[in-house]
Amino acid sequence: MSCCHHYYALAEGCESAFSVDMSKITLGPGCLAEAGERLTARAVKRVAVFTDSRIKQMPFFQTLMDSLLRAGLDVALFDRVRVEPTDESFLEAARFAVEADPDGYLSIGGGSVIDTCKAANLYATYPADFLAYVNAPVGEGRPVPGPLKPHIACPTTCGTGSECTGIAVFDLLDMKAKTGIASVHLRPSEALVDPQCTHTLPHNVLAASAFDVLSHAAESYTAIPYSARVAPAGPMARPMSQGANPWSDMGCERALQIIGRYFERAMADPSDLEAREQMMWAATLAGVAFGNSGVHLPHGMSYAVAGLVRNYTVEDYPDDHPMVPHGMSVIVNAPAVFRHTACACPERHLDVARWLGADVSDAGNDDAGEVLSTRLEQLMRKARFPGGLAPIGYTVADLDALTDGAMPQQRLLSNAPLAVDRAALKELFRSALSYW
Ligand SMILES: [Fe+2]
Repeated sequence: MSCCHHYYALAEGCESAFSVDMSKITLGPGCLAEAGERLTARAVKRVAVFTDSRIKQMPFFQTLMDSLLRAGLDVALFDRVRVEPTDESFLEAARFAVEADPDGYLSIGGGSVIDTCKAANLYATYPADFLAYVNAPVGEGRPVPGPLKPHIACPTTCGTGSECTGIAVFDLLDMKAKTGIASVHLRPSEALVDPQCTHTLPHNVLAASAFDVLSHAAESYTAIPYSARVAPAGPMARPMSQGANPWSDMGCERALQIIGRYFERAMADPSDLEAREQMMWAATLAGVAFGNSGVHLPHGMSYAVAGLVRNYTVEDYPDDHPMVPHGMSVIVNAPAVFRHTACACPERHLDVARWLGADVSDAGNDDAGEVLSTRLEQLMRKARFPGGLAPIGYTVADLDALTDGAMPQQRLLSNAPLAVDRAALKELFRSALSYW
């Protein structure tokens, strides 16, 4: 590792320890068939299954349902999860959960499905006003009172990482901004990661989820070092977004190397199943990593990009409401961000560029941001993704609204390797308008 040995040097008054927390994970082709026995092993008799209308049509969904029925489980099915969920769709799912009264949960789908299931489990287990558990300052940020009911998460895209994290993200309709609920208790009890689910992913779903993984790993690796944070008041006050740490670094490095090797292959040839399956492994590694470090600016900015969308839709996604898929709303910010943050830890930005396949042999620390961002732009072009915010419909007239939408994401903004105030954030959005 080329970063200096003192990256995690301890300092007076700063954090001196980091914690590692993760879901139990089972990974392998066909492992969805284990779901029934895994739920009964957790004493679940009645399970609420969360999915969306597209996943419900997939053959692997039947494999899962067969497993639940074989195990003798009583199943209540919610198949109306909204892609890119809102406060309203979370509440609808929670009402279903209250009525179904399950003693366990299972989610099968992308991040929207898994996040919706986390929220349903939370509000059915510990009823409260919706904003009670939502991150401050948007919500009250009240701590989740205790453990939730068992939840087995089954990701079907190669991106989310939601199966490994205690975060549920949604669109707060009144504010036209995304925000989230974060608690260790939201982390699913188990994840079943079946790479066969990736075989049928359409191009834009594959690319958006791969860019999400890429950014999870790149952001975690370049986040503020945990040892540079002010020491928490006590161990229970240590945040989940605790910053880069040696544990997260391992997962980020391997995930980025896999992405560098397989992402272009997976996009170029839909029949390259090895490449697709490897991308899911990268998603799991990055999910475990960022669940213990946290992401920063590209994700913090993405909440505004997705929340303020006006007319944009993307092929392969539902077209009944305007939306920017999560991974797309993240990656359009990333080149602007990494050009800006490279000066804080240039060696780490060069590491990311190299693992993603960039030639860094002649690059010095001053080139780090440019080398990494240029490599990201190459991948975005290969994916036929928008080259910035302008093709999504944003102009300079939107810069203040975008900045206002991102400023409340303090959990993410404060995890960046350098401090970003309102003026700097607005300049980042300006730089992200058009890359080519
Ligand atoms: Fe993400």
